[in-house]
Amino acid sequence: MTERTLILVKPDGVARGLVGEVVGRLEAKGLRLVAAELRTLPRETAEQHYAEHSEKPFFGSLVDFITGGPLLALVAEGPRAIEAFRALAGATDPVKAAPGTIRGDFALEVQNNIVHGSDSPESATREIGLFFPAL
Ligand code: PPS
Repeated sequence: MTERTLILVKPDGVARGLVGEVVGRLEAKGLRLVAAELRTLPRETAEQHYAEHSEKPFFGSLVDFITGGPLLALVAEGPRAIEAFRALAGATDPVKAAPGTIRGDFALEVQNNIVHGSDSPESATREIGLFFPAL
């Protein structure tokens, strides 16, 4: 069964020139791109995207970071695409992420962790609707 997921190459990943690396890995895995756009997020969109974390102490810093430069928003699809991309990304904390994963290979900090991937079918539907309402 084909599933869709929202993936972000966050501003740190774009600034470090890791777009090709991330897209190459997900395409090599067999996921298929169905939408892609480079954009700088308005604060309001970032706050909606991370709404479930609005009470966390890092919320303001996370919104500053994600709106601080252009990011690449992607929608990819394939069998179990949500789980497949999260396996490619590795653990949220890059120090704990296995070598060979995107975060394990390229990041050190939990905020500046290169990529975001939807964590459930419900999140994917909500996030794809927020970033690509026409899909
Ligand atoms: S939590 O606390 O378990 O809900 O956090 P988690 O689901 O692992 O992470 C959610 C997103 O918040 C970011 N994050 C942080 N940013 C800044 N500082 C701290 N301490 C921090 N902890 C988590 C993390 O990068 C996740 O971003 P996404 O885009 O969802 O991967």
